[in-house]
Amino acid sequence: MTARKIIIDTDPGQDDAVAVLLALGSPELEVLGITAVAGNVPLPLTTKNALIVCELAGRTDVKVFAGCEAPLSRKLVTAEHVHGKTGLDGPQLPTPKMALQDGHAVDFIIETLRAEPAGTVTLCPLGPLTNIATAFSRAPDIISRVQEIVLMGGAYFQVGNITPAAEFNIYVDPEAADIVFKSGIRIVVMPLDVTHKALTTRPRVEAFRALGTEPGRMVAEWTDFFERFDKEKYGSEGAPLHDPCVIAYLLKPELFEGREVNVMVETNSELTLGMTVADWWRVTDRAPNALFMGDVNADGFFALLTDRIGRL
Ligand code: BDR
Ligand code: CA
Repeated sequence: MTARKIIIDTDPGQDDAVAVLLALGSPELEVLGITAVAGNVPLPLTTKNALIVCELAGRTDVKVFAGCEAPLSRKLVTAEHVHGKTGLDGPQLPTPKMALQDGHAVDFIIETLRAEPAGTVTLCPLGPLTNIATAFSRAPDIISRVQEIVLMGGAYFQVGNITPAAEFNIYVDPEAADIVFKSGIRIVVMPLDVTHKALTTRPRVEAFRALGTEPGRMVAEWTDFFERFDKEKYGSEGAPLHDPCVIAYLLKPELFEGREVNVMVETNSELTLGMTVADWWRVTDRAPNALFMGDVNADGFFALLTDRIGRL
C-alpha cells in the first residue's frame, strides 16, 4: 500500500489536535508537513500547539511550519471563547522541545507541490484558508498539481457558528476562501451540517480515556473542555469534532454522504460575510465545484477515531 501524501494546514484548536492525531495514527496517510495558520488563536500559539500535538504522537520527525499571521485583507478574528486562551485548554500542556522548521509555511506548500509528482498531494485545511490562498496567488502553477482539497469549513442547513450566517474558518478569511473555491481544484467540504452530527457523548469520550495511553487521556481532556461551550450554547449532548471529519474522509469516505454542488463565498455583505452559498437544491446553472457533505455515520467515525488514536 502506498500511503496518500497530505499536507495538514491547521490552527489548533482541540478538534484540530484530534485531527492531526488521527492522521498520525493512520498508516494509509503520509503527513508531508503541518502548516500552522492564525485562526482559533494567534499564530505563535497555533504553531506551538502543532508542535505539542506531534510530540504527543511521538512524531518529532514531522515537519511543522509557521504560516500567515493574519487574513489576506482583514483583521484576525479568534475563538478563545470556544478553545480557551491557549487554543488547547483542558489538560496541562507541555512546553514543546521539538524544533519548528525554518522557512514559511507558504513556501513549504509551494515547494512541496512543485517537487512531488503532479496529482499526488492532497491539501487538508482545518482553519482559515490564508496559507493555501497565498500559495495559490503567489504560485498559480501549483494549482493544477494538487490532487484534491478536503477541508473543514462552511455550512448550509446549519448556517453559522461565528455569525448567524457564517462558519468560523470561512468567516475569518472570506477572500482566501473565495480564491480556493474558485481554484478549479476538486474540493471536498466538511461543513457544520456534517460536523454537528459528529458529537462527543460520554461513552465516546470515555472510550478515548479507556485507551489508557497519553494521547487517549489528552484527547479525553480536550474534548471534556471543548464540550462545555456547545453544551451551554446549543444544549447539545457534546461537542462537534469538526476537523477530524476531514481526515476520516480520507480514510473511510463511505462514512460520509454529500452532493456535488456549486459553492460561492460571500465577500462583500457585512450581514452575511463569509457565508458559503451552496447550491444544494441546484436552483442555478452554476457548475458544481465541490462535494459538499451533509451526513456522517457518527458511530463509525468515533470507532475509527478511537482505533487510530489507540495506535499512537
Ligand atoms: C472550525 O472552527 C474552529 O473553531 C474549529 O477548529 C473548526 O476548524 C469550526 O467552525
Ligand atoms: Ca480548526
